[in-house]
Amino acid sequence: MFKLLVLPGDGIGPEIIRETLRVVDWARNAGLRIELSEALAGGASIDAVGAPIAEDVVDQALASDAVLFGAVGGPKWDHLPRAQRPEMGILRLRQALDLYANLRPAVCFDELLDASALKPDLIRGLDILIVREATAGVYFSLPRANEVDADGQRRAYDTQAYTEAEIARVCRTAFALARTRQRRVCSVDKANVMETGALWRAVASEVAAEYPDVESSHMYADNCAMQLVRRPDQFDVIVTDNLFGDILSDAAAALTGSLGLLPSASLSGLGQGGRSRGLYEPIHGSAPDIAGQGVANPIATILSFALCLRWSFDRADLADALERAVRQVVSSGVRTPDIAHPGVAAVSTLQMTDAVLAALDAQFA
Ligand code: NAD
Ligand code: IPM
Ligand code: MN
Repeated sequence: MFKLLVLPGDGIGPEIIRETLRVVDWARNAGLRIELSEALAGGASIDAVGAPIAEDVVDQALASDAVLFGAVGGPKWDHLPRAQRPEMGILRLRQALDLYANLRPAVCFDELLDASALKPDLIRGLDILIVREATAGVYFSLPRANEVDADGQRRAYDTQAYTEAEIARVCRTAFALARTRQRRVCSVDKANVMETGALWRAVASEVAAEYPDVESSHMYADNCAMQLVRRPDQFDVIVTDNLFGDILSDAAAALTGSLGLLPSASLSGLGQGGRSRGLYEPIHGSAPDIAGQGVANPIATILSFALCLRWSFDRADLADALERAVRQVVSSGVRTPDIAHPGVAAVSTLQMTDAVLAALDAQFA
């Protein structure tokens, strides 16, 4: 019996999670045995208990096989000091659960080529996996401060630090995953400018030597941003640090047309037999501009649950069925407003989920 902790969060978080839980029910009816619990995170948790995530919720997450996360944040909490903001809830979970490998696939649905800002020829068949280091680097290294210095000037600093172990383990995840794909890894850094970049490149090269069957290359992060937009199909797996990974994965997401489609998984390695504890969440945020309207695209969250079935619950069969159903629904022209064609009526969050469930029923009929 696996344990799944659900953290809906803020904004559209509860809306997309509510619908995804219907898909979780489908999986249970199809034989998935899980124990489900729900708790607060982000602004909702700040309002209820005064912290972006309560310690007992972190403990619950530690005792779970997987966490399904909606999104956190919103204007209501934007005035809070950094350490008390809703976003700290997700950072705290990544670190407490040691979820150092943040997998962010950017896959282009051919049926949605017209939704991308790029020419269709550039993105047809696009399938990139960004593996972002997520528990170290400038997000977490000390010292950091925002203070007033001796001559009264405000001064802020962050620290970017990496150990070779932190770099090696995320690179190994990337190379292992490349073996299930096109066997190409591009490691991205600023080895020309940063000490951490030089170490990153050295360690990535050492790990590459352990995987002689996988083609490896290195690229500077600024060039990578340019290459992602210029010729994205040159990439299979990209492995990079926490901050570059955050930025490059949003750029890769935009190539595919909508943030509302892309899932992510945060894993602590690939574990025994490929299974890992994981946190699964859409790439997008809490979308305050559309919250409460019932129009958010639930696909990114539904596909995040598919990743959960695959990586944490050992049910690749159900994950495949779910991914097939989503593809079918999107190809059949069912569209939430973010991916709608001009002149075609868009559906709601609920109706999109209805369509996915109907496609699943048809597969299992
Ligand atoms: P966002 O991803 O919330 O929204 C960006 C744009 O994409 C908006 O126009 C939004 O309407 C649209 N969008 C996002 N998800 C969508 C969906 N499922 N369907 C349709 N449209 C969708 O990014 P933002 O506006 O920069 O941030 C809003 C808040 O979310 C901030 O507080 C930010 O810190 C937070 N955030 C949280 C996470 C997370 O919880 N993991 C990630 C990113 C941002
Ligand atoms: C993401 C988000 C987070 C990050 C924020 C909300 C802490 O942007 O998951 O990409 O910067 O990692
Ligand atoms: Mn981000």
